[in-house]
Amino acid sequence: MQNNTFSTLFVGQNLIKLLSVDSTNNYLKKLTSNSEPLPNGTVIMAENQYAGRGQQGNIWHAESGKNLTFSVYLTTDFITIEKHFMLNMAISIALNNALVKYLPAGLSIKWPNDVYFVNKKIGGVLIENTIVGNRLKHTIIGIGLNVNQTVFAKELENKAGSIAQILQQDVDLTKLLNEICTQIEQLYLKLKNNETSLSTLYTAKLYKVNQLAKYRSLVDGRIFEGRIEGITAMGLLKIKPLNGDSIEFNFKEIEFLA
Ligand code: BTN
Repeated sequence: MQNNTFSTLFVGQNLIKLLSVDSTNNYLKKLTSNSEPLPNGTVIMAENQYAGRGQQGNIWHAESGKNLTFSVYLTTDFITIEKHFMLNMAISIALNNALVKYLPAGLSIKWPNDVYFVNKKIGGVLIENTIVGNRLKHTIIGIGLNVNQTVFAKELENKAGSIAQILQQDVDLTKLLNEICTQIEQLYLKLKNNETSLSTLYTAKLYKVNQLAKYRSLVDGRIFEGRIEGITAMGLLKIKPLNGDSIEFNFKEIEFLA
């Protein structure tokens, strides 16, 4: 166990810092298959990922040494499959709670778990569960946050942003990681203690909640205006079109247009 000075009980107490790795999620996955048990809350962080993975098979690009790219190992055997989205909510709220201490108003969670500032993505989460029976067993939470990177590829310039771009100054990566680990620990413990407020907290922070906006249904290609109302227990996104009844969308079934 590597020690550090994080002000947590367990998240980040075993912190493994790597200079370069394909993906911190992959590295952690290999560690979980070793015979030796991994301490709950183990964190792997890398200065550079050369094959960082995003959602839907995308590549996660992050300039070396300027950002946070890390993965957290959590035991999650108290979560049944039907409640798996609770973990997603807990992590999204934790990130929001940590970042709100650094940033002015404008932070939100773009469903299901993108970190947004105004209309730009500043971070993303890749959650990988190991399931046994009808329960999770353990989970790897991969987090990529654009922190001190200020230059993005042309095709990302309008969509991606960073904390340094917003603040016009650099942020200490270790302090920010400590804050995020602290928040993840608090929210994980809330989840474990069955606190019921997570869904309300999450919905209140949702990007575009209750606002009239344009969407494309990827189920039938229809473009419509409507308002996000919230999420279902399974984590589906509920949108009420201007004319019509609420529709529930699964991941990959909806595109945010404007
Ligand atoms: C997304 O597409 O929004 C999710 C991005 C997740 C990126 C992080 S960086 C650390 C961890 N390791 C990976 O390979 N991916 C996640």
